[in-house]
Formats: sequence, structure tokens, C-alpha cells
Amino acid sequence: MTGRVLQPCVSYEKIVNRLLRAVMGSGMHCGIDYGTSNSSLGVVKDGKVVQAKLEQESVYLPSAIYRAFPEHELNDDIESRTIRQQLGNAQGMLYGTEAIEAYIRNPGEGLFMKSPKVFLGSDLNKDQLDFFQVVIAKMMLHILEQARAFYGHDLTQAVVGRPIRYHGIRGEQGDKQALAIMQHAAAEAGLDEIVFMYEPLAAALDYEQGLSGDEVLLVVDVGGGTTDCSVVKVGPSYRQKRERSDDLLAYAGNRIGGVDLDINLGWHSIMPLFGRGTDALHNKAFDAIAVNSIPSQQAFYSRFEMPVHGKADAVRERLYKVWLDKLSSHLVRSAELAKIALSDAERHEFGLDYVEQDLQVQVRREDFREAIERSTEKIRQVIDDARQASTSTIDKIYLTGGSAVSPVIQQVIRNVVGDAVPFVSGNMHGSVACGLSVFASRHFSG
Ligand SMILES: Nc1ncnc2c1ncn2[C@@H]1O[C@H](COP(=O)(O)OP(=O)(O)OP(=O)(O)O)[C@@H](O)[C@H]1O
Ligand SMILES: [Mg+2]
Repeated sequence: MTGRVLQPCVSYEKIVNRLLRAVMGSGMHCGIDYGTSNSSLGVVKDGKVVQAKLEQESVYLPSAIYRAFPEHELNDDIESRTIRQQLGNAQGMLYGTEAIEAYIRNPGEGLFMKSPKVFLGSDLNKDQLDFFQVVIAKMMLHILEQARAFYGHDLTQAVVGRPIRYHGIRGEQGDKQALAIMQHAAAEAGLDEIVFMYEPLAAALDYEQGLSGDEVLLVVDVGGGTTDCSVVKVGPSYRQKRERSDDLLAYAGNRIGGVDLDINLGWHSIMPLFGRGTDALHNKAFDAIAVNSIPSQQAFYSRFEMPVHGKADAVRERLYKVWLDKLSSHLVRSAELAKIALSDAERHEFGLDYVEQDLQVQVRREDFREAIERSTEKIRQVIDDARQASTSTIDKIYLTGGSAVSPVIQQVIRNVVGDAVPFVSGNMHGSVACGLSVFASRHFSG
């Protein structure tokens, strides 16, 4: 576990918060899993984790934000406005499913961002850094506001999950940048004390709740943005400890997750309809689908040439439509839904009517396996790194994270670890949030 405790600064609000905490006692701390795809927050009540409902009946909030530009702003030169002006005030902001639906309805008429966590470790210029700081702070504040309303009390301390390595190519520098953004967001959301905890360690603590004997666990968390592995000692002998770093025997992480798998599948099975494999459009088609790369998206959306005279062919027309209506995220969303369908079915067919009427795509599980080969090689590597780094015998392999639901991914993991060690799993989507909540209740109380 790593982390820094935020320095409490003395302000009126914070003093009130402390007084509240003194009056209300426990329940002021929580665990927060700020995920690439979904976020969740939990609190331990009467010995059990209660996850807050973050949108309607769901305890998961899709990590997406949208702000429609008001009519009077649509004709303005949007690019020339500062990030803070573009993002406007909190009232105009939509979060989660509402944000995704608003983007799908009106892609060109607002600012949309999905999975911002993917970019926190990237090489960001000052404007981009400013943008992500504002976006993450707004999302964090929204999550905390929903949770405070749900529990009916304030939350001022949190254990916040972090991946072993944030997505991006800047290594430690990138991780530092990402943690600083998260810390800033936590402070803006009214948290005056936070501790970071590795996400796969938190997942192990959730599993540990139900154990009657000690075990050494290899946690494999294949999430939306990263794959995180850890070898952890869990069980009744360790459960009550307030500090768990000693029980983390080894860890390894990689910047590969479900978003990459979606892009892989999109590139493999959708983009041939948009110029993949043609001399003229191959690179442009790649940039169009690479929603996790700022340079690719900037290159794609900078300009698009259509013939001045005569008619463009159907493929160029389609890619032009993607450019004009800003449909990259929509294409990746279609790929994601196909990927999820392929966890239950061997084949799946879907339409891309939002690009062209009756445009259909067929995918088989085999296509998905083929499409993600380079990504799965990296997943294999990270599991191997974690196993190699520990000399302990592993009793169980704990699968978690939404991407680990896929039978293709489970087979990849099976191929690395062999048949001898059993797989176990619990709450594939909520284990990190629950483990963080359990640790928060131990760490902050008493
Ligand atoms: N049934 C399924 N089959 C395959 N993939 C799935 C399934 N359900 C969800 N996913 C994928 O799981 C990913 C989200 O998993 P999860 O909620 O664990 O991620 P996260 O915690 O938000 O991300 P991270 O931990 O990397 O920050 C998404 O890419 C989603 O498409
Ligand atoms: Mg996760």
C-alpha cells in the first residue's frame, strides 16, 4: 500500500466537518473505487459493507461525463474558450448513464468524456492537465454527493483505490501525476483525509471476509483500464490488522484493460468497414477508433478531406460521418457491447445504423480472441511477473474485474497458471470497492 495523507487545512467547512465527526462518531469514512469504467463507494455498517446507490438503483456509476453546450454557445469558437469555461458550472453537467445517453443522442453538441482515468498517467500538456483535474474533481464531487445523500451523513475520510500502474507510458512520473490529480479531486469533494490502496490488495480484503482459514491468494483484477495482480496473505490471522502492506507479497500491473479490448475488437471487426486495410484510409481509421490516445484523436479530428468534385466512395463517406458527428466513442461502445455479448454467446451480430442504415457487423468469439492477442500477451506477462516475484505457494487464484468475466480472458489466465490451482471469484464488479470500505473502517476507527 502506498499513499499520503492529505494535510488538513483549517477552514470553516473542515472545522464543521470535524465537529460533525466528533458528534456522529463512526460512519464518516468510506472506500472509493474510482474505476476506468465504473465507480463505486462503500461504507461498513453493522459489520457489513453497504455500497451507496450512485445512480437510480445502481451502486455503480459509469465513468462518463457530458455537458451540452447551451444554444447561445453552439456557434461560438468553442476551442478558444478555457477548459473551465467549456466545462461550465456543475448544474449543466450529466454523469454516468445519463451522460452516455446524452452523447449518443447529440454527439456533436456537447463535451463528452468517458473513462478519464485512462489518461491520468499520460503525457499531458498544461491545458489537458487542467481539463482532467476539473473533470475528475467534478466526478468525485458528484460521487460523494450521491453517497452523502444516500447514507444521510457526511463523509470526510476515505481509502481510495489505485491501480498498480496507471494507464500511460510515463512510468513512475505518470503514476505521480495521476495520484496528484486524484488527491486534488478528493480535496475538492470535501474529503480531508485520504489513503491510497492498491486495487488488487483491496479485492483480496473483500474475499478475506468470508475465509475461515489462512490462504495465499493470487489476485488477478482485469478491469477497464488496467490489469492488476497481487500475491496476498489473507485469512483470520491477518483480518484485524490496521496495516496490511506486510501481507502484500508481490505485485505487478499493466496498462491493459477492457477499453483496450474494445478498441482491439473495433479495429479488427468494425474498422474494415471504415477503411482499415486501404491505402488511403488505413491510418485515419486507426486514429478514429483509438479513443485512448490523445494524439490519435487529435489527428483524426483535426481535418478530413472529401473530394471537392464528384462523390466519395461508401467507405470514405462512413469515416467522414464518424468525423463529422464525433462518433469514435460510439463505435467503441458498439465494440464493447459486442465483447460483452460474446461472453455468453459464440457469435453476435449488431447494427451501426447511427453511421449508415442497415450497416451490420458479425463477430464470433474466435474473432475476439484473435483481435486481442497482443493485449492478452501483456496480461499473460503481468500475471507471470507477479507469480515470479513471490516465493510463496499460491493456494487460490482470485479472479475479479469486469473483463475477467470473459471466458476468453479466463482461458488466457488458465494458460499461464496451469490447471493445478483453483480459481475462485466473488463480486467481480464490486470487490475492490468493498475491500476498500472494509479497510477504511479498520484504518480510520479507533
Ligand atoms: N460480461 C462481460 N464480459 C466481458 N467484459 C465485461 C463484461 N462485463 C463488463 N465487462 C468489461 O469490464 C470492464 C469494466 O470492469 P471493471 O468495472 O472491473 O473496471 P474498472 O474497475 O472501472 O476499471 P479499472 O479497475 O481498470 O480502473 C469494461 O471494459 C467492461 O466492458
Ligand atoms: Mg477496477
